Amino acid sequence: MSSIAALLVCLFLSLHQRTCSGAGADGAAAHNLSSCLVSHGVTNFSFPTSPSYAILLNSSISNLRFTLPGVGKPTAVVLPASRDGLRGAVLCARGGSLAVRVRSGGHSYEGLSYTTENHVPFVVIDLMNLNRVRVDPGSATAWAESGATLGELYYTVGRSSRSLAFSAGSCSTVGLGGIISGGGFGLLSRKFALAADNVLDAVLIDPNGKILSRSTMGDDVFWAIRGGGGGSWGVVYAWKLRLVPVPRNITVFTVGRTGPVELVAGLIYKWQFVGPNLPDDFYLSVYLPTGSSDGNVSVSLEGQVLGPKHLALSVLTQSFPELGFMESDLTEISWVESTAKFAGLSKHLPNRWLGFKQYSKSKSDYVQTPISRRDMVNIVRYLSVGPQGSIILDPYGGAMARIGSNETPFPYRAGNLYSIQYGVYWDQSDLDRAGEYIGWLRSLHMYMTPHVSKDPRAAYVNYLDLDLGTNNWTSPAGRSSEGAVKRARSSWGAAYFGSNFDRLVKAKTLVDPGNVFNNAQSIPPLHY
Ligand code: FDA
Repeated sequence: MSSIAALLVCLFLSLHQRTCSGAGADGAAAHNLSSCLVSHGVTNFSFPTSPSYAILLNSSISNLRFTLPGVGKPTAVVLPASRDGLRGAVLCARGGSLAVRVRSGGHSYEGLSYTTENHVPFVVIDLMNLNRVRVDPGSATAWAESGATLGELYYTVGRSSRSLAFSAGSCSTVGLGGIISGGGFGLLSRKFALAADNVLDAVLIDPNGKILSRSTMGDDVFWAIRGGGGGSWGVVYAWKLRLVPVPRNITVFTVGRTGPVELVAGLIYKWQFVGPNLPDDFYLSVYLPTGSSDGNVSVSLEGQVLGPKHLALSVLTQSFPELGFMESDLTEISWVESTAKFAGLSKHLPNRWLGFKQYSKSKSDYVQTPISRRDMVNIVRYLSVGPQGSIILDPYGGAMARIGSNETPFPYRAGNLYSIQYGVYWDQSDLDRAGEYIGWLRSLHMYMTPHVSKDPRAAYVNYLDLDLGTNNWTSPAGRSSEGAVKRARSSWGAAYFGSNFDRLVKAKTLVDPGNVFNNAQSIPPLHY
């Protein structure tokens, strides 16, 4: 058997809950961890000496920046296949004095589900085998294990009924564990708010392996896990989700325009008044790639309307005549088909391995007052000379604005017109220019300062950005202090959560006072 074939066999076995582990792993720590896992019924794990280790570790890393050799690697990758196995994995990692990193879809922008600060030794508990979804169309609810991807969830919901949907993000390979923990904005959010706003119950495994439900975790913790960011509270094993009603056919479109900076800036300027103010059934976002060609720049507007084409056409032509919508731009499909379209897939929605991987860095902002036409021209001009990248403007308003800013940890509700996601991307051949690209992104973010929210300058926790500050933990359970809480509050804590930060600290102190679940931007507990 060739070595590639051997690796593939090993990966296959690993994905199917057989052991592919431990062979030749050195050191007493690995031995103890291995015995502990087996005694808890977990047989699927991999140490660095195992041929499956690198494949399993890298399998869901979407940002290739964190595959580079300088990035610390885990002592083991553990793949529990049951709730009790997951509980055992947490207890064994703790028993071995290893930091715990929980990974669902692996899409953390800063790699927080599979890295630690200061080379603290750690274990990755990967939930890829905890991906079952059970839909009850009668009650319009679903129980979904956290390791399921959005694609797996959407596919299962779509198969159960053409008229049910779930409100979350557009990328099919993002994991439920991460996206719901941080909020989860998507094409249905103007109508039905965030994924986290549609969580009815959850099963949380706390640092001592206790299994908590909504009624036993208490109000503060149930509040915190719905938007307070992943990796801080325990492991969410599963979520009970409210499914939402959608028409059997909805209308979707992607409309591109190319032209001089002034023309494209004029369209985006106008969009600021249209996108956030359309009826709730409408979603219309802006995607603006960097760069230019022959002096022209491009923009594309992506949209979804929970209604037929003729409704979409009449509202859009009236509210946004400058775009020149035509009936041929619009297509009627089912909601589940639309999720495949917006994920960039023609099929294979539930395939979790189709994710697009690249080297990238992202940042975010919120806009509360429309940017002037003149400033928009300057912004588009700035982008036109940037390295490979893009900005995405997501319209808020609708249901997003009707939820109070402290009902969940996600505070950016009424008064926020739209979010901006900035990104730069590069590939292997450009690794030596990564610093230059990231530097450009930071300068763009700086350039945007006068046009975006202030005091604090807001950011979206699911678009993690370590430039905002880090905890700098130096041991597996961190070492929290009043100073750590203060530093977190005044940097990323305020940016992601505004005045909700202190309630998050309270919830953290209740559920994980020893700071077992930590990462570079986790919520620190008040007492240690
Ligand atoms: P990953 O497994 O890396 O986890 C992210 C964080 O959550 C880590 O800190 C991890 O420890 C923690 N975590 C994971 N599972 C957990 C569990 N079961 N219990 C407790 N903590 C857990 N966002 C959005 O709102 N709308 C969108 O449309 C998109 N689209 C999008 C596209 C692409 C290509 C990327 C890379 C990202 C997005 N995002 C997004 C952002 C996305 O929501 C964010 O990166 C999520 O944290 C990813 O969740 P994963 O489970 O995939 O990541």
